[in-house]
Amino acid sequence: MKILAYEVRDDERAHFDRCARQLGVELALTEQVPTLENAELAAGCDGVTMLGQGKIDAALLDTYRQLGVRCLTTRTVGYDHIDLTHAKNIGLPVCNAYYDPNGVAEYTVMLMLLCLRHYKAALWRMQVNDYSLQGLYGRELRNLTVGIVGTGRIGAQVAQNLSGFGCRMLGYDSHPGPAARWLTYTDLDTLYRESDIITVHLNLSEQTYHMIDGDAIARMKDGVILINCARGPLMDTDALIAGIEQKKIGGLGLDCFEYEEGIYHQNHRDEIICNSSMAYLRQFPNVVMTQHMAFYTDAAVANMVRCGVEGICSVLETGAYQTLL
Ligand code: COI
Repeated sequence: MKILAYEVRDDERAHFDRCARQLGVELALTEQVPTLENAELAAGCDGVTMLGQGKIDAALLDTYRQLGVRCLTTRTVGYDHIDLTHAKNIGLPVCNAYYDPNGVAEYTVMLMLLCLRHYKAALWRMQVNDYSLQGLYGRELRNLTVGIVGTGRIGAQVAQNLSGFGCRMLGYDSHPGPAARWLTYTDLDTLYRESDIITVHLNLSEQTYHMIDGDAIARMKDGVILINCARGPLMDTDALIAGIEQKKIGGLGLDCFEYEEGIYHQNHRDEIICNSSMAYLRQFPNVVMTQHMAFYTDAAVANMVRCGVEGICSVLETGAYQTLL
């Protein structure tokens, strides 16, 4: 069995080597993002695994199929970069990764705490020897209500993590699940109206695109803190900016950003970044933005690589692996 892995970072290489030895597969590794131009790299490969930076559209899927590829895996939980409908139509199985949710869930709680305690403003002051306290008055989680939109594996883990802080928790999900142990399921309106902090843990789809828009924000509490460690386009950037400007939103913790494509996970130190909404949003003292790194832990990276390789082996050898189709 031969597998081509795209978007391979240096920190993944040892994990790939280990997987290849253990599972007896031949691997070809490339740092390149999958495109039509480099699809030829997959010639002679049974499977292809990638991360989330390429657009895996119909043309690319057709090309992989013609080259003999029989299975695709994305080493990401999210799969909005893959045209699943077309993959299904041409009979190409696709799997996503099911890496442990703990890293992203911990990061989510960290962003909540950073926003609640005005960490960014405090850090800025420290850098100019301003050790004043004014304006840095924080709030404690035990006195607050946290709304979790999407209570799959990550949302449920956030609820479990938060359960030690003593906050009230509300949850919204079209399929309520075991998170009911830690939170109270409610409708979206109630969650918006009663939550001091709202965090979203949803897949990006046509249904969830811009679900946090101006209308949703208007229904939230004044001073609400919004957290996004899922996908940028779940939130409408213009509505976030208006919410911050009008002080309707009290804090934003964004590990992902609607227009991050081509920017995050790359070094642009000496370049001109043409992304004015990102530059504008990130200069606010109450907006913490990071480069889509909530997933980035030793445990998760090992898991992601294993899912990427194992998924292909299982689908092609036993057919006993859950695909997205
Ligand atoms: C995912 O697994 O869906 C992520 O968001 C991580 C990815 C950016 C590497």
